Amino acid sequence: MPTLNITGKTTVYGIIADPIDHVRAPMVFNPAFEAYGIDAVMVPFHVTPDDLPAAIAGMKVMPNFGGLTITVPHKVAMMALCDELGASARRVGAANAARFTEDRRLIGDNFDGQGYVAGVTKGGFDFTGKRVLQAGAGGAGMAIAFAVAEAGAAAITIANRTVAKAAALADRVRAAFPACDVTGTAADIAPAGFDIMVNTTSLGLHAGDALPIDVDALDPGTVVSEIIMIPEETELLARAKAKGHPVHYGRPMLDEQARLIAAFIGCPFPD
Ligand SMILES: NC(=O)c1ccc[n+]([C@@H]2O[C@H](COP(=O)([O-])OP(=O)(O)OC[C@H]3O[C@@H](n4cnc5c(N)ncnc54)[C@H](OP(=O)(O)O)[C@@H]3O)[C@@H](O)[C@H]2O)c1
Repeated sequence: MPTLNITGKTTVYGIIADPIDHVRAPMVFNPAFEAYGIDAVMVPFHVTPDDLPAAIAGMKVMPNFGGLTITVPHKVAMMALCDELGASARRVGAANAARFTEDRRLIGDNFDGQGYVAGVTKGGFDFTGKRVLQAGAGGAGMAIAFAVAEAGAAAITIANRTVAKAAALADRVRAAFPACDVTGTAADIAPAGFDIMVNTTSLGLHAGDALPIDVDALDPGTVVSEIIMIPEETELLARAKAKGHPVHYGRPMLDEQARLIAAFIGCPFPD
């Protein structure tokens, strides 16, 4: 446990969720605040959907409340409670961080996708001009598809169990980034012809889950990336590694997102 030195000058940040006991943000932000000498603390707030407007109204009237990170089930509902939204939140339709300005306006944005891209980029992969296979079109997948297009990918194939969701997401990403060739398809496509694949489905969270794609059908050299953090090594990554594919783990997405969110909410981590 970090030794927090909270005083009357400390800026308070929150993480809101329902349920709350699984959230990881306090364990990421508070040790960083301490390590970097930032006079701030992040506290978990258990907020139910019915109470969300009242909770945000309460935070708004406290000048030492700097902002919050937002997770399930509040990311979409927060959109209507923000006074202003960044481009990423508007594209994705969900906010996962919000900060108060000096005049107590609430600005929301979404860093899920940029967190993934920053994590993989720091790991040595450049998305510029690349062909990307994305398994999944849920909340995280939505943010990642926009961010990968924004990072300069030449093409993205979104493969999802519910094909209509993949097709709808592909239409939206293509409309936002016309230079990127985005298509939606069924989950069981032959995954050949890609530079990188990313698993944004929840397949791999539990032992015995099916694989999101057929690893044996990937081209040699295709990079395989994951956003699941626990287990650290999913079956997908284990099989890909065994076949000699370069892999990227899920944890850097969270770490890079924390760095981006810290800068956004006004307490940047030094490089
Ligand atoms: N590293 C990070 O920082 C980070 C951040 C956010 C999320 N995540 C992880 O990302 C994963 C997805 O989260 P989410 O919030 O995007 O969830 P979500 O909105 O519920 O989306 C789940 C996705 O998985 C697919 N899926 C679920 N069960 C499936 C099955 N049995 N067979 C085939 N496809 C299945 C869904 O397909 P349908 O559309 O057909 O239902 C959908 O594409 C979770 O494992 C979560 O832990 C990691």
